[in-house]
Amino acid sequence: MGTLINKRILLGVTGGIAAYKSADLARRLRDADAEVRVIMTQAAAEFITPLTMQAVSGHPVHMHLFDHEAREPRAGTALDHIDLARWADAVLVAPASANFLARLAQGRAEDLLGAVCLATAAPVAVAPAMNRQMWDNPATQANLAAIRGNGVGVFGPGAGSQACGDVGPGRMLEPAELARLLAELFATGELAGLTVVVTAGPTWEAIDPARGLTNRSSGKMGYAVAEAAAEAGARVLLISGPTALPDPERARTIRVTGAREMHDAVHQHIHDAHIFIGVAAVADYRPVQAAAAKLKKQDEALTLELVRNPDILASVAALQPAPFTVGFAAETENLEQNARAKLESKRLDLIAANEVGADRGFGVDENRLLLIDRAGVTELPAQGKAALARALIHHIAGRYHEKSRIKNSRQAHRP
Ligand code: C5P
Repeated sequence: MGTLINKRILLGVTGGIAAYKSADLARRLRDADAEVRVIMTQAAAEFITPLTMQAVSGHPVHMHLFDHEAREPRAGTALDHIDLARWADAVLVAPASANFLARLAQGRAEDLLGAVCLATAAPVAVAPAMNRQMWDNPATQANLAAIRGNGVGVFGPGAGSQACGDVGPGRMLEPAELARLLAELFATGELAGLTVVVTAGPTWEAIDPARGLTNRSSGKMGYAVAEAAAEAGARVLLISGPTALPDPERARTIRVTGAREMHDAVHQHIHDAHIFIGVAAVADYRPVQAAAAKLKKQDEALTLELVRNPDILASVAALQPAPFTVGFAAETENLEQNARAKLESKRLDLIAANEVGADRGFGVDENRLLLIDRAGVTELPAQGKAALARALIHHIAGRYHEKSRIKNSRQAHRP
């Protein structure tokens, strides 16, 4: 079962009488802990006011592609359609009018909603609502076939009495049902039956009882990866360094402090794992000996002697048999080259490389990843960490199943 917790849902509202239910839908999505932003078409505003949708979503409504179209101060910037397209984990257009379905089928981008549907990499679903004759019309059915062919989800419509007095297909599904179907979009089942171990967060290498060496990792990416793996159906164990984040809902979480403790926890649990994803920013060195009591100021200079920590990722990849092993490479320069060198030296199946700097990678909410393996490079464009984690899990699932297929067919052909 998928969930809407922490999902960023872009709710598109088009012109139809069912738009009065969009307010209830927005409220239900928020009750399910989703974040909701609303785009309305001009026609939608004939049926329900932007103020209502602003009140129930908690954010100003987006309506215009261009600044000069707005009569009042408006939300966002001239690049709204790109920003919103990247922001969304899913786009749901409810109600979707016959006119909107026609525009979506053609990939038209003359208004904000059409442009966002074209520009987003997130899944898009529509909840059609229209008179039954309009629904049955071959033109509408041809548009639907085209939309489905483009990978857009079609929720409903239901059948029953209509605002126009007709009875038949064309009623928008009820908000509770739409929220359920939307949550299901996220439950891919790609890792069903598999066990995944994820490391996340920084490590803390004690200098004395009050001080330590650590880094700027917030743990957000690793936690999002654990969530996404669980959502894809895996049994997930998250081994986390110290973070301010709550344990993910559906992963078992073990909290550790230093790299050696993380190493031991990983090796205690790795034997029945199919996939290992090392997202933690593990300290390469630790003080030779943590002082038992707080160090006092003495001389002008103090030398701290450090020793190497075990490389957790490389030690997992070296196991016989090893799980499908995925590493992360946070680099400030020569991203692809440095990441590829790590892929080889640590004998990984895949490495996810991201650029870090003052304003990138650590602690920020948006990120870009290059996924590098022996078959090539795949770029996951900048997006929220939750969406990025889902895209990463999708990629890992594909590669994992491909590797298992090759291994099984080799075994089958062995004399
Ligand atoms: O070599 P570098 O630290 O850049 O490699 C990063 C990758 O290796 C990350 O996936 C990180 O989780 C992992 N790593 C590890 N143990 C270490 C150092 C890094 O698992 N001691």
